[in-house]
Amino acid sequence: MDGEFGGNLKQQLKKLFDESLKLTVSDEHGLEPLVAASDAKFRKLGDYQCNNVMGIWSILKPKCSQFNGAPALGQAIVSNLPTSELVKSCSVTGPGFINVVLSAEYMAKSIENMLINGIDTWAPTTSVKRVVVDFCSPNIAKEMHVGHLRSTIIGDTIARMLEYSKVEVLRRNHVGDWGTQFGMLIEYLFEELPGSDNEVVTTIGELQLLYRKSKRKFDHDPVFKEKAQHAVVRLQSGDPVYVKTWAKICEISRTEANKVLQRLQVKLEEKGESFYKPYIGNMIEELNNKGLVQESDGARVIFIKDFKTPLMLVKSDGGFTYSTTDMAALWYRLNEEKAEWIIYVTDAGQKEHFDLFFKAARKAGWLPDNDKTYPKVNHVDFGLVSGEDKKRFRTRAADVVRLIDLLDEAKTRSKAALIERGKDKEWTLEELDQTAEAVGYGALKFADLKNNRSTNYTFSFDQMLCDKGKTAVYLLYAHARICSIIRKSGKDMNELKNTGKIALDHVEERALGLHLLQFSETVEEASTKLLPHLLCEYLYELSEHFSKFYSNCQVNGSTEETSRLLLCEATAIVMRKCFHVLGITPVYKL
Ligand code: ARG
Repeated sequence: MDGEFGGNLKQQLKKLFDESLKLTVSDEHGLEPLVAASDAKFRKLGDYQCNNVMGIWSILKPKCSQFNGAPALGQAIVSNLPTSELVKSCSVTGPGFINVVLSAEYMAKSIENMLINGIDTWAPTTSVKRVVVDFCSPNIAKEMHVGHLRSTIIGDTIARMLEYSKVEVLRRNHVGDWGTQFGMLIEYLFEELPGSDNEVVTTIGELQLLYRKSKRKFDHDPVFKEKAQHAVVRLQSGDPVYVKTWAKICEISRTEANKVLQRLQVKLEEKGESFYKPYIGNMIEELNNKGLVQESDGARVIFIKDFKTPLMLVKSDGGFTYSTTDMAALWYRLNEEKAEWIIYVTDAGQKEHFDLFFKAARKAGWLPDNDKTYPKVNHVDFGLVSGEDKKRFRTRAADVVRLIDLLDEAKTRSKAALIERGKDKEWTLEELDQTAEAVGYGALKFADLKNNRSTNYTFSFDQMLCDKGKTAVYLLYAHARICSIIRKSGKDMNELKNTGKIALDHVEERALGLHLLQFSETVEEASTKLLPHLLCEYLYELSEHFSKFYSNCQVNGSTEETSRLLLCEATAIVMRKCFHVLGITPVYKL
């Protein structure tokens, strides 16, 4: 490993400790050392810690009397640690914690190396080759609501984290284009507007109005309800008249959704529920042959232990359900797309659905019994968003908030703030507009991503557009400031990168350098745990480290100017990669 200046310190240390443990005690016990960045309490003692020596010793104790307590075992592990440029010194403290002080020279070299060879050299490595991320996934005819915004933002970041780790990501928009709502929409159109050739409905607003009217009729008129249910079956069996109207309705919704996705710069491929229709028959037959499908009140279902309701594959009227499609889609993703990991991003309200359908897939033998080995599935759930006035985000009521309006407002507000600071006089109109978009949309995304996704949060433009605290605005400012420091130096950074050296002598330089090097393992942790807020936290801490460094270490005009400018450049590069992974467009002046 020496001479390799990778970014993942944790992984490199883990390797050293693995080797040492093998030398210290025989590896037949399957013991693993745990290595983690030291928390605040231990930071004075070391940068990283191997913190499970006590645990290892308690397992070993009955089997070998060679070590007189965990501290002695700790000492033995330290003396067997292979020599490495990475480690400066180790100490064993307390009941057996091994504290590791990293070499500042090594850290400096790693950063120099990244500056020359690019931030991609710090990309986490993984054995997973292909992943499906199923996100956004609105339902046709109902406008995308704020829940879909969360799914889009969180899903896009998860996809981006994996893409940075060189995984092939199949970004899938599992659009609800095949549900019962079509029966009622089509039937209503046929009944109320006969012979209109459906040309009366052309915009999303009209489509939504149609949705509301037909839903009211569906809920109150049992005759209509039955006809609507019949219409679904007609559609699902491929009746061309129904299919034509269906396609038209889908197109209107698609156009609207694409506007939002384009603004958010989110790419994904639509493979809606209807796409999996051709696979349903064989899929059910396979499950049937395995003896999993049972008859229940005329329906065909799979019973799963501990679940009150079974998984409904075919309803008594012959129609398919949301679960049927999800089973067919999973079958397709595993067998046709050869995905090893399938990640579904929806609100927490669908937890039960995913639990049930994942269990059914395990029962069918499509997935292993445990959730550690591949192929693997995960439901990435998230909490609710409420408006400050509570009702703004209601999804079914007439006053549902439109995503496109949210985006407009974010942009308008950030533009107004820029104009207030006189930027309209400094910049071209285009610059003003682009910056307003980067800041406005960035603020919206960051406000969503910065919280642990399971928590509910209150949507507030004032808060997210504030230039202090954990906001994209604050972070974009921090980045722009670093760029301005570099610009003011008048130095050619490309030349400096290739000739200059970094020294991490000052305590704040060292702290900043260490944090920079922890970028890779943070992305790795955030993507394995599927928790984007860890990356937001990292980015915020990075800007804090930079502030401390900048207020304690003079950059321009100092004797350490070259090294410190390189640290500025490395910080800006890592910040930009964070922004990129979070789907935020960086700005260079603000
Ligand atoms: N269309 C669904 C909804 O809006 C979300 C679909 C999520 N993906 C899936 N494979 N079930 O609630």
